[in-house]
Amino acid sequence: MESEFISPTQVQDFEDLIDGLLTRNYGLVDHFLPPALVAGLRENLLVHFNSGNMHPAGVGKRFSYQRNLKVRGDLIRWIDNDSKDPWEQLFNERIKSFITYLNQTCYTGINDYEFHYAYYEQGSFYQRHLDQFRVDQGRKFSLVTYLNADWQASDGGQLSLYFEHDEMTIDPQGGRTVFFKSDEIEHEVRLATRPRISIAGWLKHR
Ligand code: OGA
Ligand code: MN
Repeated sequence: MESEFISPTQVQDFEDLIDGLLTRNYGLVDHFLPPALVAGLRENLLVHFNSGNMHPAGVGKRFSYQRNLKVRGDLIRWIDNDSKDPWEQLFNERIKSFITYLNQTCYTGINDYEFHYAYYEQGSFYQRHLDQFRVDQGRKFSLVTYLNADWQASDGGQLSLYFEHDEMTIDPQGGRTVFFKSDEIEHEVRLATRPRISIAGWLKHR
């Protein structure tokens, strides 16, 4: 992936995500995407949802794929890595910049990525899980960006991260981004009492 100009504030966000992951097993920044981009992606997601173009997420991969509402209730839509949508292009550029930075500073060898929109209807959740599939160990890092406007603690829908000795609970505020290792950190999406929207995805090594 080619490197391009990266602004100092972007570098600071990248540093914060990486530093958080290295020092406490997760990175968190509050404005990984500019507000206009969060709004543009939110609009995209809601158009897909309202036109019935989001689909129940399954559990597992290929032949072990199945829908299980007791495990996860989100509706998803994959984002094309070569999308021509202007907001998705900006999002993909941001991800590619981060991958370039990560590879240059941490020798991580990431050479692919995949992201999807996610819509958790009121009352849905995603039970405690790991993001790496047993049959496909390509997912190295998980990165989730929230698109919710004005999220309140009483809306539920927190992301809980489970570490060896403690846990961390994070409100899904719009623009906030969380970063952790896909094969190490078990996590869960708590029941949301209003629709909860995000882009979730993975940095991969093929
Ligand atoms: C996932 C996931 C977390 C979140 O999609 O695998 O764990 O906070 N998402 O949306
Ligand atoms: Mn997950």
